[in-house]
Amino acid sequence: MTSVRHFLEVDDLTAAELATVLELSADPSPTPALEGKGMALLFEKPSARTRHSMEMAVVQLGGHPVSFAASEVGIDDRESAEDVARTLACFHAAIGARVKSHGLLERMAAVSPVPVVNMLSDQAHPLQALADLLTVKQEFGEISGRRIAFVGDANNVSRSLAIGAGLAKAQFVISGPPGYQFSEVDLDRVSATGGATEIVDDPIEAVADAHVVYTDVWVSMGEEAQASEKIDAFANRYAVSEALMGRAGADAIFLHCLPAKPGQEVAHEVIYGPQSRIWQQAENRMHAARGLLAFFLGAS
Ligand code: CP
Ligand code: NVA
Repeated sequence: MTSVRHFLEVDDLTAAELATVLELSADPSPTPALEGKGMALLFEKPSARTRHSMEMAVVQLGGHPVSFAASEVGIDDRESAEDVARTLACFHAAIGARVKSHGLLERMAAVSPVPVVNMLSDQAHPLQALADLLTVKQEFGEISGRRIAFVGDANNVSRSLAIGAGLAKAQFVISGPPGYQFSEVDLDRVSATGGATEIVDDPIEAVADAHVVYTDVWVSMGEEAQASEKIDAFANRYAVSEALMGRAGADAIFLHCLPAKPGQEVAHEVIYGPQSRIWQQAENRMHAARGLLAFFLGAS
């Protein structure tokens, strides 16, 4: 069980492995690594992109996805999370889980004899970061040296992107209000990749010379009770407006993991404008998921 590898955060891959996963993501005719096998996809929170991209990635690898809500199996209610993981591993080559608490993923990974893949937790969204980096690579030819400016919350999406950027040798800068910043633990984790996180108060300064301007919702799933407090803290200074986009590099693209609240964290003119690559980025969720699964399960 100890030799099983899991994907709970981007730095579960080395820099070289991340590069390999991104190369595999571009393979249009992959080896059917999941032929005759299943993948369990467990959801404690809603999803459009993650569920559908994962299901189609499994199908493209010859496998059979089984998606279900956590309430259907009664995690830690009908049965412990550990026993759910052990049970799913009887039938599936891998387990994907979208969870409210990252600790639940860690508990499942600790006992699972098959890989556990984080499909979003309160702490991390590594599958999203893979798709984001793939989009940067497609757009600019290489990731190394590109400057990614994240304007918004230090959340699951920006945390995984900062780690992925560090591994891929991209520059990463984040701009958000006081109280919604990365912790020292987060910053140390990025440093361990060889990267660095620039924290810039002024979003105009943050986007200067950026190749990528990225944002996410200000209120993540599970944070509904803090909604008005967070919106007050971010509005309007940390919204990506046309004017802010105009301060980025001349060839800059706009990215958003989606779902978005157009008119709140990003202007309609930006998210649906010529610099936006959100649909390419969304499609890349499937290609990146396929690349990751091919890497994890290809040799088994
Ligand atoms: N970006 C993303 O994870 O989208 P879903 O929440 O719809 O899966
Ligand atoms: N930060 C957002 C990302 C959704 C894909 C959330 O956790 O709700």
